[in-house]
Amino acid sequence: MSFLELSAIKKSFGPVQVVHDFNMAIDKGEFISFLGPSGCGKTTILRMIAGFETPTDGTIVINGRDQTALKPNQRNIGMVFQAYALFPNMTVFENVAFGLKVAGKPRAEIEARVKEMLALIHLEHLAERYPYQMSGGQQQRVALARALAPKPQVLLLDEPLSALDAKIRVSLREEIRLIQRQLGITTVFVTHDQEEALSISDRIVVMNAGRADQIGTPSEIYNRPATRFVASFVGTLNLIEAQVEDPDARRIRMGEQSLAIQDPLSGLKGGERVSVALRPEAATLSPTDRSDAAIPGEVVSSHFLGSVVRTKLKVGESTISFDMFNDPGRTPPAPGEQVTLHFASRDLLVIRD
Ligand SMILES: Nc1ncnc2c1ncn2[C@@H]1O[C@H](COP(=O)(O)OP(=O)(O)OP(=O)(O)O)[C@@H](O)[C@H]1O
Ligand SMILES: [Mg+2]
Repeated sequence: MSFLELSAIKKSFGPVQVVHDFNMAIDKGEFISFLGPSGCGKTTILRMIAGFETPTDGTIVINGRDQTALKPNQRNIGMVFQAYALFPNMTVFENVAFGLKVAGKPRAEIEARVKEMLALIHLEHLAERYPYQMSGGQQQRVALARALAPKPQVLLLDEPLSALDAKIRVSLREEIRLIQRQLGITTVFVTHDQEEALSISDRIVVMNAGRADQIGTPSEIYNRPATRFVASFVGTLNLIEAQVEDPDARRIRMGEQSLAIQDPLSGLKGGERVSVALRPEAATLSPTDRSDAAIPGEVVSSHFLGSVVRTKLKVGESTISFDMFNDPGRTPPAPGEQVTLHFASRDLLVIRD
């Protein structure tokens, strides 16, 4: 049995349904990310797990116990929000101690636990500081320590990194993951940053308008997107128009070319139009060991992004982006140039809706 189970959860605000039949079973110690665009219902589901919102329908079970009717303070759940929600008039120590005080823990126990938590986030030396005397990253670490101090059964993180600058975001997400592993605490992390979700999660839930479009490991989500939405939301995606040639032989036609692909074409008919996806890193300008297909194209633009150069090509009706590793000795192709794009037909994914 899973540790945290969300079954047939629905949520409406007035006449508007914002969560539709959401189901998920999370194992103890798992790190799950909810990934999706603004307004898709991520925070609403988190708030239902915490007890700040009541589901219109469905049940929430943690560790075998139905929580659906429990108040937030009866659930023992730790939560960290996007905005720094520390108490401004309390020191770091007092902030981290807060939940333990409310729970009526003895003084000695509180002191020991707060020290332990501050050591965990490497801020022992800032115990007497007030929030305004600390950086955003430090404040979020304190918010994490405050959430973890009462030993919650589940940790919920609602975009805890989104107000921080890029470098701090990366180091803090790694720290969060390290602490989460150390404590083995079941965690749900909300983000709309796909790289963040891919880099730290055991599994990702890609949400689209109040529904889970796909639930899977980062590699499954990225390499085998289940829907067009997942494919385009996670990573950069090239969609190329193609035609089914022979569904049983798994052959499609792209322009002049007939290609054998790995993806099954079951349920599709010969002559039917399909979209096939190709990730930017799967295409090159010169053939490689993997490549068994080539299509001509015209360069539209090249953008230097640091470690890679992203080039856009016009191929028939479609525009395709592909990446080349930066090479100081090589000039990226210029707009208007005619080139040939090489790739492996097994990297083509047929996108269904
Ligand atoms: N208390 C409320 N009353 C009415 N509508 C609400 C309420 N809370 C959320 N909503 C609506 O529910 C939908 C989902 O909101 P939610 O906050 O869960 O989105 P989100 O995925 O967290 O988005 P973001 O990435 O912007 O934080 C939105 O359309 C929002 O306007
Ligand atoms: Mg939100």
